[in-house]
Amino acid sequence: MKLFAHRGFSGKFPENTPLAFHKAAELDVFGVEFDVHLTADRQLVVIHDETIDRTSNGSGFVKDMTLDELRQYDYGSWFGEQFAGEIIPTLGEVFAIFKETEHILNIEIKSDIFEYEGIENLISEEINAVGLQERIIVSSFNHESIQRFHQLQPMIQTGVLFGSLIVQLESYVKSLPGDALHIPYYHTFRGIIKEAISNGAIVRTFTVNDETIARQLQTAGVDAIFTDVPDIMLAALGKNHTNH
Ligand code: G3P
Ligand code: MG
Repeated sequence: MKLFAHRGFSGKFPENTPLAFHKAAELDVFGVEFDVHLTADRQLVVIHDETIDRTSNGSGFVKDMTLDELRQYDYGSWFGEQFAGEIIPTLGEVFAIFKETEHILNIEIKSDIFEYEGIENLISEEINAVGLQERIIVSSFNHESIQRFHQLQPMIQTGVLFGSLIVQLESYVKSLPGDALHIPYYHTFRGIIKEAISNGAIVRTFTVNDETIARQLQTAGVDAIFTDVPDIMLAALGKNHTNH
């Protein structure tokens, strides 16, 4: 079972910051997951929430601020005073951190609340600019975003995010089309997921920070987990955690 560092190495460092990504880049995990939003001046930035309130010393919606305005705030001190000075990174800056590594990069398009018109195009162009096509997975809870991205980049893998499951799951995912299911880990033991796995579906689960649960997911045939504690999971899961 593969490991993705969720929002970078977010268990020990402030999530979705350059520091969290540099620390993830040092780990022998399969991949790294992070979340992308669009600023008022149409810059792609990596942050989880629609607002900066929880993860900075500022407040307001990402969509209402320019990159320069967003950069006036500190994205580390909320997590610990020793992390003061962390910035909100652009997608390009995160790509640069992983340019020379082998990590798979899971870009989660956070367009399920605000649609950020044209965000799929901007992400596609950024990927082309750095030539990282073969190391990217694009996922979203907004399945229209997945469809739009697939039209632009049919060779790039997609992950279809679900908060809860639906009937006819497998045929729905194929219809988008999506390449993998990204689901909360506690749905893994539902019949519909067991069946999908036995039919060969790629199932990745979030957010798994408990070793015992991770082992159960591994036994169930889950392809990968997203974890905030990749250090603990690397130690716990032994040799099958990576394919490189
Ligand atoms: O992409 C997996 C996971 O990150 C989805 O949920 O809220 O942590 O972005 P969230
Ligand atoms: Mg995410």
